[in-house]
This record gives sequence, structure tokens and C-alpha cells, in this order.
Amino acid sequence: MSTIWECGLYMSSGTFLVAEDSGALVGCVYIETRGNRSYLGLLSVQPESQGAGLGRRLVAAAENFGRESGSQIMDLRIISARQEQLSPFYQRLGYCLIRTEPFPANSVIKIPSHFILLSKSLI
Ligand SMILES: CC(C)(COP(=O)(O)OP(=O)(O)OC[C@H]1O[C@@H](n2cnc3c(N)ncnc32)[C@H](O)[C@@H]1OP(=O)(O)O)[C@@H](O)C(=O)NCCC(=O)NCCS
Repeated sequence: MSTIWECGLYMSSGTFLVAEDSGALVGCVYIETRGNRSYLGLLSVQPESQGAGLGRRLVAAAENFGRESGSQIMDLRIISARQEQLSPFYQRLGYCLIRTEPFPANSVIKIPSHFILLSKSLI
């Protein structure tokens, strides 16, 4: 069973929660609190550890962090090119599609893409 640690102060704007298993880093998630909303990003589980519930645990830990920071809603965004893989995952964890947003005008992109915003109530 992996242990999830809180690693603050890596970035001035937010916090990384990292998952450790037998001394090895196996996953992470970034969380940024913005008043009554929090933002979740950079969720990642190493390939060998995927499919065993760690992604779900990291998202739950980020949601608890947001709740304890006073947030009522968790926001996240995925890129449209990965919608097929990621939308079912997040919807399974209770996230709903809110809207789409274009990439910033100066973005360098290889294929036409946009952001898809998803949110979940934390109360
Ligand atoms: C997305 C990612 C974090 C999922 O982590 P994971 O540890 O494999 O996910 P879990 O095992 O916790 O799965 C949680 C649930 O989602 C389901 N699930 C996982 N991947 C899924 C997918 N692609 N489509 C549909 N459901 C999926 C699981 O079946 C599980 O459901 P259950 O608990 O009801 O059985 C992982 O695949 C990853 O790191 N991918 C590469 C990085 C990435 O794309 N990050 C997202 C950036 S927005």
C-alpha cells in the first residue's frame, strides 16, 4: 500500500501531494486553493502502478486538502486531445463537464486542441 505525503513549498502558488511506495515516488497531484474553489492538476501515477486505485486515492487526497482549506468546489482541466482517455476517469470520480476554453493565443500546439473544464462539489 502506497503512502501519500504532503510536500508544501515547492511552488509558491500551490502544493504537491506525492505518493511513495517503498522509498520510490509512484504518483503525484498538484492542488491550488483559490478561495472557495480549488484547482487540481498534474495528476500522475507511474505506469507500473496504474490501475490499482492510486489515481483515485490521490484525487481523494487532493479533494480533502481542498475541503480542509475551505473550498467548496474542485476544478480541473484536461486537453481535448486526451478527452477520450481522461473524461471517463474523472467522470467516474464524480466530475462534471462544465465548459470548453481555448488555449492561450500564443500557445504552440501540434494538433488543434482546447481545454475542457470539469468540476466537482466538495460539500
Ligand atoms: C489517469 C491516471 C492518473 C489514473 O490513475 P490510476 O491509478 O491508473 O487510476 P485508478 O486505478 O485509481 O482508477 C480509478 C478509477 O478510474 C477507472 N479508470 C482508470 N483509468 C480509466 C480510463 N482511462 N477510462 C475509464 N476509467 C478509468 C478505474 O477503473 C477506477 O474505477 P473503479 O475504482 O471504479 O474501479 C493514470 O492513468 C496516469 O497517470 N496517466 C498518465 C498521466 C495523465 O494522463 N494524467 C492526467 C492529467 S489531467
